This record gives sequence, structure tokens and C-alpha cells, in this order.
Amino acid sequence: MIVVTGATGNVGRYVVDELVEAGAKICALTRDPEVARMPAGVRVARPGDLPFDGVTAVFLNPVVLWGSGPEEFLRQAVWHGVRRIVTLSSAAVVEAGPGNQIGEHHRALEVAIEATGLEWTHLRPGAFASNAGQWAGQIRAGDVVRGPYAEAQLAPIHEADIAAVAARALLADDLVGRTPVLSGPQSITQAEQVRIIGEAIGRPLRYEELSREAAREAMTGGHVSAEIADSLLTMFAASVGRPAEISPETERITGRPGRTFAQWAADHAADFS
Ligand SMILES: NC(=O)c1ccc[n+]([C@@H]2O[C@H](COP(=O)([O-])OP(=O)(O)OC[C@H]3O[C@@H](n4cnc5c(N)ncnc54)[C@H](OP(=O)(O)O)[C@@H]3O)[C@@H](O)[C@H]2O)c1
Repeated sequence: MIVVTGATGNVGRYVVDELVEAGAKICALTRDPEVARMPAGVRVARPGDLPFDGVTAVFLNPVVLWGSGPEEFLRQAVWHGVRRIVTLSSAAVVEAGPGNQIGEHHRALEVAIEATGLEWTHLRPGAFASNAGQWAGQIRAGDVVRGPYAEAQLAPIHEADIAAVAARALLADDLVGRTPVLSGPQSITQAEQVRIIGEAIGRPLRYEELSREAAREAMTGGHVSAEIADSLLTMFAASVGRPAEISPETERITGRPGRTFAQWAADHAADFS
């Protein structure tokens, strides 16, 4: 049986679908099984009730370990004979530089997993296309999105493509011990992302740039820590005027071109209307 942690999440939900389609036996973890709405035949459990017995592989979303740390989870996995862990890590791991809290956090988890002696694959995606969901409230309320660094370039990846790679890593053996960096197929600015969402919902939208200070205040006033806000803002600043690197790994592993941001916006148009 394969366990999918964070099964209702941006990536986890697609991982569930990929594995169901492949005919795998899976257990989806969610804190709220009653509202999770998983496909028929999928076993659903709360993280605290994870049935490790008979589990061969785990799709591990680090957010489910926040608060507890990975030690107990990994100890249980080893004890119960889990063979493989596929980690939802981050491209920030390979982005050097001081203050890279996101990279350091994910690398620490990768190191802990490698120390278990289990088989592992660490997926290292860059920016998720679903980050654009943070603008949904502003877009539903008007035609202007306010945020930092309008010209920051990213290669947003559709979460379904991350999930396709995750499923491959869980079901086949060729990605064991690998750390594929995953990106979307195009480098686009934040302002272009907003314009593309406008096209998907049939309404012209524009991006209005906030100062770094104002953006930091808005981020930390929500549920983002000061360290993560600074880390993200520094990443954005560094990518102004610098095309984002397009990783060939997504297409090489899945065997098809990565989904574009326009595709993502079309898939999620209802979230913005
Ligand atoms: N966003 C990006 O651009 C980006 C880029 C690279 C890497 N990453 C990494 O990807 C991971 C996030 O992935 P994601 O966006 O798929 O996750 P997500 O959608 O934010 O969360 C996945 C699921 O985990 C559960 N969950 C959330 N917080 C939890 C908590 N404190 N304890 C237990 N369960 C919790 C929730 O499910 P239930 O409510 O059903 O329990 C949620 O649906 C992070 O490690 C992030 O750093 C993100």
C-alpha cells in the first residue's frame, strides 16, 4: 500500500488521482476524512492513525510534519518496513545564499530521510502555479492584483505535473536516489500570470506593484512567518529581469511537455470567478 500524506493538498490530490489510475492500493491522509472526498476505493485516515503496516511507500509532504519534526515519522517508517519515501521537497534546496530558510528547511528533511537507509526520491519543484491562488480574493473583488516585484520571472509548474513525477517515483525504480528539479515549461512574470488569469476568466486584469516593505507587511499579517516572507521576497527580487530556468526533467520523466500556466489558469478559472 502507498500512503499519500497531505492528500487533499495542491499536489497530493493529483498524486491520489495518478495512483488510482495506475491501479495502486493507497491510503490518503487528511486531518478531516469526512470532507476529504477521495475517489471510491481509496482508504482514508487521519495522520495520527496512519496504518504503517503493509505500507511499501510514502508520498511525504513536509507540511504534515510541521510541529512534530520528521524523527518519529521516519522511525515508524523504518520499524514497519516501509521501502521508499518520495519527498515533496523544493528547488530552493539548490538555490544557494544566506537567509534561504525554505531551502535549509527542506534540505534538513532530505538529509534525515537519506540517513534512514530507505529508498528515496526528493522532488525539487520550483514555484507552484497554485501560488496564484493567493490572488483569488483580490480578483474576485476587482481587476487589480497588488503584490511585490511585478517583473519577477518564474516558471510556475502545474501541480498535476509534479504529481505525475511523484507517481512515477512511487511506482517505478528509475528515480530512486534522484533529486529531480521540476519547473513549468515557460518563464513568465508575475504581471503576465495575472494577465493570463484574466484571459481565462474573460476579464482584463492588471498587476500593481507594491513596495517590498508593503508586501512584507501584507505577507506577515497573514500566516507567513517573517523568515519565510524575507526568503520569498529575496527570491523574487533576484528573479527580476532574469528568465527562470526551465528544467528538462519534468518532460523527460513524464514523457510529455509540461502544462502551461494558461492551462493551469483554465483548469482553475472557477477559483477566480
Ligand atoms: N508553493 C510553492 O511554490 C512550493 C514550491 C516548492 C516546494 N513547495 C513545498 O511544497 C509543500 C506544500 O505542498 P502543497 O502546497 O501541496 O501543500 P498544501 O496544499 O499546503 O497542504 C497539503 C495538505 O496537508 C494538510 N496539512 C496542511 N497543514 C498541515 C499541518 N500543519 N499538519 C498536518 N497536515 C497539514 C492539509 O490537508 P488536510 O487539511 O486535509 O489535513 C493540506 O491539504 C511545502 O513543503 C512547500 O515548501 C512549495
